[in-house]
Amino acid sequence: MTPSSSSSPNPRHEVTTPQALPEERESEPGLRPSRLSEFVGQERVREALQIAIDAAKGRGEPLDHLLFHGPPGLGKTTLAALMAAEMGVQMRTSSGPVLEKAADLVALLTAQEEGDILFIDEIHRLRPVLEEFLYPAMEDRKVEIRLSEGAHAQTMTMQINPFTLVGATTRFGLLTAPMRARFGIVQRLNFYPPEELARIVSRSAYVLGVKTTTEGAQELARRSRGTPRVANRLLRRVRDYAQVRADGVIDGEVARAALRLLDVDEYGLDEMDVRILRALLEKFGGGPVGLGSLAVALGEDQETLEEVYEPFLIQEGFLVRTPRGRMATPRTFERFGFELPGPGAAGAPGSAGPDSLPGLFERE
Ligand SMILES: Nc1ncnc2c1ncn2[C@@H]1O[C@H](COP(=O)(O)OP(=O)(O)O)[C@@H](O)[C@H]1O
Ligand SMILES: [Mg+2]
Repeated sequence: MTPSSSSSPNPRHEVTTPQALPEERESEPGLRPSRLSEFVGQERVREALQIAIDAAKGRGEPLDHLLFHGPPGLGKTTLAALMAAEMGVQMRTSSGPVLEKAADLVALLTAQEEGDILFIDEIHRLRPVLEEFLYPAMEDRKVEIRLSEGAHAQTMTMQINPFTLVGATTRFGLLTAPMRARFGIVQRLNFYPPEELARIVSRSAYVLGVKTTTEGAQELARRSRGTPRVANRLLRRVRDYAQVRADGVIDGEVARAALRLLDVDEYGLDEMDVRILRALLEKFGGGPVGLGSLAVALGEDQETLEEVYEPFLIQEGFLVRTPRGRMATPRTFERFGFELPGPGAAGAPGSAGPDSLPGLFERE
């Protein structure tokens, strides 16, 4: 018999995907910190935000327009909500792909009371017409409403209350220059080190009423791909295991046993990561190979590879982006028990590796 015919062809790699699973849209808000001081890590971001909040409050003005960018699951939506909470204002939420017509934006913008926050997720996917519509609203609090169509279209300009636009995006590079320029504060979120993830796991365990030992929390943290969303998900899954197979406490041993069942390895690599790296080694000799060819070999779309999988593999030193394409690193060869290619070859020690050619590697 084939294993359960779930809607996903690969249910295992869902365990460590940084994107929210459908059921998490409901479970996640419960784990969101309710004050900025409870938000773990991202010290510099938090400090910058606290200063912005204090300054805005001191002047009795709304916050500057604010943009959060970085990989999925690192706390962008959470921070947007925290900004509203700290400012004591309301937040309305929409997203680039959901907003279709200017009328949708008009409705949101005119509903804003002074200082309220409009949060637009995936703002890089906002349609260009809507983007242009947003500019005068952000700059001069003006909303232009078209009353008729054509060359002599009549428009009416409406003044709206001062408000704050908070945007979030996983693809800073896809945001247009004029859009970027209109944000007074731009903050990038980075992957979390294991110590901070362990603190997030402990906090979430407390909220969920689960017992974890320090070692148990660290074990989950280490394998969470630097991502709080993944840490919280592993906690939930391991909790089930602890309840059914152990006495309900997540200690190191229980965590390891449960994670083995979930197929999450000690580097936090999941099945998809392993497929990517193996393809790079086996089909392309370690690279360099173009993103397109790699995507075809994997039957995965380029955007998902680039946005979801690569950032973690790059951060962990398993893959580098070079002008000629993706390359495996010595660490990758070692992890999969492959012999390093001869001198001068891609990934060979002393060859054009990430250390010897700084600046050649893409940043975004
Ligand atoms: N720094 C943090 N401290 C505590 N929990 C966090 C932190 N960052 C993210 N989380 C939790 O991780 C989950 C995903 O965060 P979210 O803000 O939705 O990420 P993003 O919008 O960047 O995809 C949420 O449940 C959130 O509460
Ligand atoms: Mg989000």
